[in-house]
Amino acid sequence: MYLSEITTELLGRERQEALGQFLTPSPVGDFMASLFSTLPHNVRLIDAGAGTGALTAAFVRRACAKDSGVKSIYATTYELDTKILSALRVTLAECESLCSERGISFKAEVHHADFIETMAGKLSGDLFSSAAPSFNIAIANPPYKKINTASPERRALRSVGLETSNLYTGFVGLLTRLLEDGGQLVAITPRSFCNGPYFRPFREDFLNLMELQHLHVFESRDAAFRDDAVLQENVIFHATKGKTQPPIVTVSSSSGDAGASITAKGFHFAEIVYPNDVERFIHIPADTGHASATARLSDLPDSLASLGLTVSTGRVVDFRLKNALRPTPGPGTVPLLYPCHFNGGTVHWPKLEARKPNAILDNAETRPWLVPSGLYLLTKRFTSKEERRRLVACLFDPADVKAEWLGFENHLNYFHTDGKGLERKLALGLFVYLNSTLVDQYFRCFSGHTQVNATDLRRLAYPDRATLEAMGNALKRTDASQDELDQLVENHLYGLQ
Ligand SMILES: C[S@@+](CC[C@H](N)C(=O)[O-])C[C@H]1O[C@@H](n2cnc3c(N)ncnc32)[C@H](O)[C@@H]1O
Repeated sequence: MYLSEITTELLGRERQEALGQFLTPSPVGDFMASLFSTLPHNVRLIDAGAGTGALTAAFVRRACAKDSGVKSIYATTYELDTKILSALRVTLAECESLCSERGISFKAEVHHADFIETMAGKLSGDLFSSAAPSFNIAIANPPYKKINTASPERRALRSVGLETSNLYTGFVGLLTRLLEDGGQLVAITPRSFCNGPYFRPFREDFLNLMELQHLHVFESRDAAFRDDAVLQENVIFHATKGKTQPPIVTVSSSSGDAGASITAKGFHFAEIVYPNDVERFIHIPADTGHASATARLSDLPDSLASLGLTVSTGRVVDFRLKNALRPTPGPGTVPLLYPCHFNGGTVHWPKLEARKPNAILDNAETRPWLVPSGLYLLTKRFTSKEERRRLVACLFDPADVKAEWLGFENHLNYFHTDGKGLERKLALGLFVYLNSTLVDQYFRCFSGHTQVNATDLRRLAYPDRATLEAMGNALKRTDASQDELDQLVENHLYGLQ
């Protein structure tokens, strides 16, 4: 058992969650330490939120390997939790003896203090703080916790120009400021900063200060912290302080099991952060298929808006309209559609054996939440992990379900033209495109979770109207196989016959 595992048992889950305390298993720490490129002779290391010191220890093991060139290590550690400090001191003592065996000088400081408050104070030059130190190596597994706008952490971070809603990005933002030019950072964090809308200012700040060298993802979402049962998609990154992004960023992945093989590939920086993207999204291609999907989609000319279309989330929030819901259609009701009504490419309604209601009363209270009947394209907002695709689109055809008005429930999105149905050829073209492997790969690479929201669909690039209509025209049946759909996309988008 590792020291970190023993401490995990001692600390208890509630306490761990309050402190964002998920300790890095030793194989992950060693992998992180292996990502640093040439090490400085005299290392000034910062380990912020050090826990039991797992990451400093991993770095020291790397530095003590043959020919590392390291002559001295000065480790600065910050840790808020009193209970864990003695374990941290034990680790640092072990680091000192390992270094002394290898003729490397090792000194360490333990700061039992709030890293954010202390470093923001130093960096903003407040009257009570001494000058900020500078480091050439930073290694971190920072705590993850939302911080609200009025919290002291947010205020402290704001004082150094960092506007961010999570502790982990606050930690990383401060570390990037504490590094000297050419200094290196390796961190493991949630993946949310790569594409979360709230993290835009952080991405901007990070990419302005740091050169992104390497990204590593785990294939399974509970991988890195399996022992702690943290269901979180994590990313490990290596970045160097500087202003010129490298031409090639290495992207690697592994299953997350100790000793598992790692596959790696180089991508142009422009494939990771698109040159004109104001959102500065960091795309992480998990394999070549994903990478080419992102590159191919970025060539498409249209957006939903330029096609004159809109996508909205179903407006019927069922628990708010409970009294109007009916298990079966009857007088005064209209069809109510849930994802359970998706049946291959079309809608199967009513589904009397389903647990969900099939109908909703059409009255003055419910009418604002209904839409006029027409041809709509529906997509599921949430897909199960077992589902073959992240995006599942199905066609609602008024010829199959006779009604004047319809209710779309909140777990689905619907494509429409100004609140009304779509033209048939265009709807069928969208059906082909959205159900293609190309779009699926794009979503898999772009977002870490299985949810596809209306904003994601608005942000997607689309083929032009003529191409969509041609694909729609060529679609013979809505229960076409995946191969048939993909072939249609290839033929019409890339002219392969
Ligand atoms: C995710 S854990 C990682 C610990 C260790 N670096 C590792 O990798 O095993 C984050 C650590 O940060 C500490 N922490 C949380 N908030 C902190 C703060 N504001 N200042 C310093 N440490 C903090 C927690 O107690 C916890 O030990």
